Amino acid sequence: MRVVLAYSGGLDTSAILLLLKRRGYEVVTVTVDVGQEEELEGVEERAYQLGASKHYTIDAVGEFADRFISMAVKANALYEGRYPLGTALARPLIAEKVAEVARREGAEAVAHGCTAKGNDQVRFDSTLKYYLGDDVKIIAPVREMRLTRAKALELLRSEGFKVPETHKKYSVDENLWSRSVEGGILDDPAAEPPEDAFAWTVPPEKAPDEPLYLELKFERGIPVEVNGERMSLAGVVRLLNKLVGSHGYGRIDHVENRVVGLKSREVYEAPAALTLIEAHRDLEKAVYTPREFRFKQVLDWEWSDLAYQGLWVEPLRLTLERAVDELNKWVTGVVRVKVYKGSLRVVGRWSPYTSYSRQAIDYDNGWYPSDEEARGFIKIWSLHSIAAARARGLPGTG
Ligand code: ARG
Repeated sequence: MRVVLAYSGGLDTSAILLLLKRRGYEVVTVTVDVGQEEELEGVEERAYQLGASKHYTIDAVGEFADRFISMAVKANALYEGRYPLGTALARPLIAEKVAEVARREGAEAVAHGCTAKGNDQVRFDSTLKYYLGDDVKIIAPVREMRLTRAKALELLRSEGFKVPETHKKYSVDENLWSRSVEGGILDDPAAEPPEDAFAWTVPPEKAPDEPLYLELKFERGIPVEVNGERMSLAGVVRLLNKLVGSHGYGRIDHVENRVVGLKSREVYEAPAALTLIEAHRDLEKAVYTPREFRFKQVLDWEWSDLAYQGLWVEPLRLTLERAVDELNKWVTGVVRVKVYKGSLRVVGRWSPYTSYSRQAIDYDNGWYPSDEEARGFIKIWSLHSIAAARARGLPGTG
């Protein structure tokens, strides 16, 4: 009996590896690199020590950027207007890789370490089902046994494994796009997150006194240059996380509506994501017609929602993406942002496709509607509203 385990190298998935072996499985571990820098060290070694028969570390950073983050930028993806979806976007990619290995290894089952109260189980299971159907069983020991961190620790110790991890205060999930922090004192939504919850951003109070200016170039909605230097999307994101984070911008704190019917207090760090989305949306507004801009928000909201809700497999996503791409064809240009002590502002933008005309907007030059044109326009423009208000006898209509 062979099982393929989505293995992060952390406490829970390490305990699961042992559990699966106890149940008589031969365990193949898969660690997918989606940019979670610190956690990857020594993962392979640990998997073999715990008794994995085979281990895969799959470098998916470029793919994560090019297939997932690029669309997140084009769709200004912020769940409930706040969360840039780092964890949510990485799950379907990790599940896809696990499914590929399961097929290659002829596994009977796949396993993951998600709890029954979180969103991640939905994202993993739905994607695994999409690729593997019902012939491959999904084993979720944490969900099944209500495995707590304390029990996981005990299990590892009982089998003689040293657990180097000092008791962690928070549950952290990290990848290229964002860092999610939950648990501990953060579960009190009224309490300000302590400084030790953050790792990618300096406290704004301690940020440099000099502002940081960035020139971000977009082509068809995708960031391609920072301050004149061309780089891959993964490169842009990595660089901005460092630069912008060092100026204290990129912290998010909100109460989030989970898929599973619970509200949870979530803290995130996402300097690059927030910067790119802010800049991208500014450029879109400079380019789109007012109707395109307004409609685009519906596309963005729906796309983000599918990603969050574990419905990456939903065909509507592809339809939305076609529309998002179509509109982004014109989102080419440069946006200048200023980051200063934890705040960010767009301070300039330029695009070959904007209909903005300095000549047209100038009061002293160029086109100036005649008084008659303006009166005629306003009369017809407001006719529906005033006529309806009159018909209803609304206050002030006489
Ligand atoms: N609430 C976020 C989401 O649903 C973050 C989840 C973080 N996961 C974790 N294992 N700490 O995408």
